[in-house]
Formats: sequence, structure tokens, C-alpha cells
Amino acid sequence: MTSKTTASLLAICVACAASAIAGTALAQTAETPPAQAGAGAAAAVSGDAQQQPAAEAPAEEEEETPAVAATDGKLVLPNGQDITPDHMENGRWYTAEDIPTYKIAEDGAVDWATFSGYRRYSAECHVCHGPDGEGSTYAPALRKSVLTMGYYDFLEIAASGKQEVNTAANLVMPAFGTNKNVWCYIDDIYAYLLARGTGDLPRGRPAKREDKSDEFVAQEDSCMSG
Ligand code: HEC
Repeated sequence: MTSKTTASLLAICVACAASAIAGTALAQTAETPPAQAGAGAAAAVSGDAQQQPAAEAPAEEEEETPAVAATDGKLVLPNGQDITPDHMENGRWYTAEDIPTYKIAEDGAVDWATFSGYRRYSAECHVCHGPDGEGSTYAPALRKSVLTMGYYDFLEIAASGKQEVNTAANLVMPAFGTNKNVWCYIDDIYAYLLARGTGDLPRGRPAKREDKSDEFVAQEDSCMSG
């Protein structure tokens, strides 16, 4: 089911990536808040009507990600996405809406797909996005991105890439849609980043994990050879 979804996304994504470019990049590249001293005129007109982004701009590390709301036994992201594991498919956990998610057992063991995501992230994304989804001076912290951006937007950017065109920053997010080492594991990477984003999975290599299931192996083989 999920592979059908991703296949159709690939078809539309070359076009859709362009529309995604404008949004987030500007905010990410802002390094310093507007100077506040001497901004008498601005202060005079601002009052409380104006919401200044100044307080957020420099907070690369300091601000912790918003807690995931737990209501009625469900885990819900700040963007409203329910991430409660509901069923398994191809050895991976999905929500009731078929969005990949993670499951951590009481003894701390992560599901295999989340562990797989850790490995793939470390091999393919870490170089730009920093260790453990923490971000770098070059590329944003994906553990935070997944809390707000939504699964399908994540897929689109991972498939088609993203390029900042509005400034001279020259940042490039490559397109991975035809790279099987990424695309066959993109749901795993997403689940791993979710687990990092909510804080349920600490930094570093997961200490305990479930075994790899036969279903996972079968789907992996067919994806990699397909
Ligand atoms: C060559 C460096 C590089 C690699 C490797 C890379 N990225 Fe990126 N990525 C970037 C840059 C730079 C941006 C910011 C682009 C922009 O805003 O225009 C970005 C942005 C993103 C975004 C959007 C984040 C947001 O908050 O807007 C996602 C999602 C993403 N990358 C996923 C991935 C995944 C998944 C991998 C590994 C499979 C990966 N990237 C590997 C450089 C890279």
C-alpha cells in the first residue's frame, strides 16, 4: 500500500518540489535577530500587535522540541498528526492512517524499521543534516522538521530535493527518489526521525532493537531488486 503511494508521489514530485522551495528556507538562514537597541521607532509602533520573530531566530539548540500531546492514549504531533502505532505492514509499524511510525518496547528495544532508519540516516543524511537528526550549520534538524512538516511533505522533499533559490546561500538538498539505498528505506528514516523528534529515542545508536522480521526481509529484497 505504501509503495503505491510513494510511486505516485514520485511521478508528481518533480513539479511539486518547486512550490515547496519558498517556505522554510528563509527562516532557517536567518542567523541573527534584528537589532533591538535603537529601534525606537519600531518599538513605538509594535506594541503587542506585532509578533517579533526575534526571540526565535538564534535558537538553534536551546529550544527543546514541543512535547507530544498524549490524549486518550494517542500520541499527537504539534501538526495534528497522530503517530500512535496501529498495525504492522512489511515488518514496519504504521498509524491508523498508514503513516509510518515507531514503537519502543517497555525494555527500550526499538522496532527493527526504526533501527534500520537510524542506520540509513547515518549513511545517507548525517553528512549534511548532522548526527542523530540534530541539524548542522548547513542543513536543518530533521528531528524537528518531522514534528511540523507532515509525512507527505517529507516524502516529496526527500524524493525531489529542495534548493534555496531566494538567497545566495547556495544550499542544496539532493533528490533521492531514484536512489534505492534511500528510497527503499525512506519510511524507516522517517520513523527514526519521529522517534528522535519526540524524544522517545535518545541520541546515538539504539542500544536495543527487535529482530529483523521475514516480512521486512521480503519487502526489502523486492524493493532493492525491483
Ligand atoms: C548534500 C547535503 C544533504 C544531504 C546528503 C541530505 N540533505 Fe536534506 N537538506 C539539505 C539542505 C541544504 C536542506 C535545506 C534546503 C533548503 O531549505 O532549501 C535540506 C532539507 C531537507 C528537508 C526539508 C527540511 C525542512 O525543515 O524544510 C528534508 C525533509 C530533508 N532535507 C531530508 C533529507 C533526508 C531524508 C536525507 C537523507 C536521505 C537528506 N535530506 C540528505 C542537504 C542535504
